Amino acid sequence: MTHHEPMGPRTRTAVVTGGASPRSIGRATATRFARDGWAVAILDVDGEGAIALARELAGEFGVPAAGYGVDITDSGAVNDVAARVAASELPPVGALANIAGIPSPVAFLEVDDALWDKIIAVNLTGTFYVTRAFLPAMIDHGYGRVVNMSSVSAQQGGGVFSKTPYSAAKAGVLGLTRSLAREMAPEGITVNAISPGAADTTIRGDTTAEAEAALSASIPMGRQATADEIGALVVWLSGADAGYITGTTQAINGGSYIS
Ligand SMILES: NC(=O)c1ccc[n+]([C@@H]2O[C@H](COP(=O)([O-])OP(=O)(O)OC[C@H]3O[C@@H](n4cnc5c(N)ncnc54)[C@H](O)[C@@H]3O)[C@@H](O)[C@H]2O)c1
Repeated sequence: MTHHEPMGPRTRTAVVTGGASPRSIGRATATRFARDGWAVAILDVDGEGAIALARELAGEFGVPAAGYGVDITDSGAVNDVAARVAASELPPVGALANIAGIPSPVAFLEVDDALWDKIIAVNLTGTFYVTRAFLPAMIDHGYGRVVNMSSVSAQQGGGVFSKTPYSAAKAGVLGLTRSLAREMAPEGITVNAISPGAADTTIRGDTTAEAEAALSASIPMGRQATADEIGALVVWLSGADAGYITGTTQAINGGSYIS
């Protein structure tokens, strides 16, 4: 194989962060990758959940799959996982979906230093650590797709569940994406962000049915995104057909914010 010859999905691995939670976008994304024939490496702070999902996907779709317990805010641990993936039976890494994230429903004047640091660490710095750890393998293989998770909160400001630290972190992800896209373009690696509006996942925890209904009613389409709809966008951006798209922010929000 020549350096720049694109590989087929079956010959490369998609790394997905944040797939352990049962209704998560990470889980839907990893499932979509596997369904399309990609090998998958799932990284989550919930290691057991990541390993269980990997087993499930290997069984259902017959692809190589592995789960790793890692906190993406620990750069040493992230580097260690990247080395383990490289040394594993998985094919070379061809895509990285930085999906793991946490919300911040706290009002601005109640945000203390620790909360600010944590929200930035998981949503922004974690994306940096994981991307830095896996990029060299993609550069070596001359094919790479990085998809970073932002949010409509970065563009229009936060809502009830996604106040200032979250919006700031997710806006940081857009800057990281744009700058890295330019730097990686000569390497044949694309870097894009996705910006979902509200999606029906576990991220909002013990929210009430009334709050969820009000959220859905505020969206022109009258409903939240499914995790699967967002996963489909990530997988499409990771494919060969999306090779000339880089540095962009792909909205997926049911018409709630038109940029
Ligand atoms: N659900 C929404 O409405 C919505 C909208 C826009 C953007 N997003 C973003 O999409 C992403 C996924 O959200 P979701 O709704 O699927 O959330 P979720 O809570 O259902 O899943 C998040 C996953 O990330 C993992 N995770 C959390 N902190 C981690 C860490 N430090 N290291 C490794 N893994 C960690 C969790 O264990 C979990 O499996 C997040 O970045 C979120 O900000 C969500």
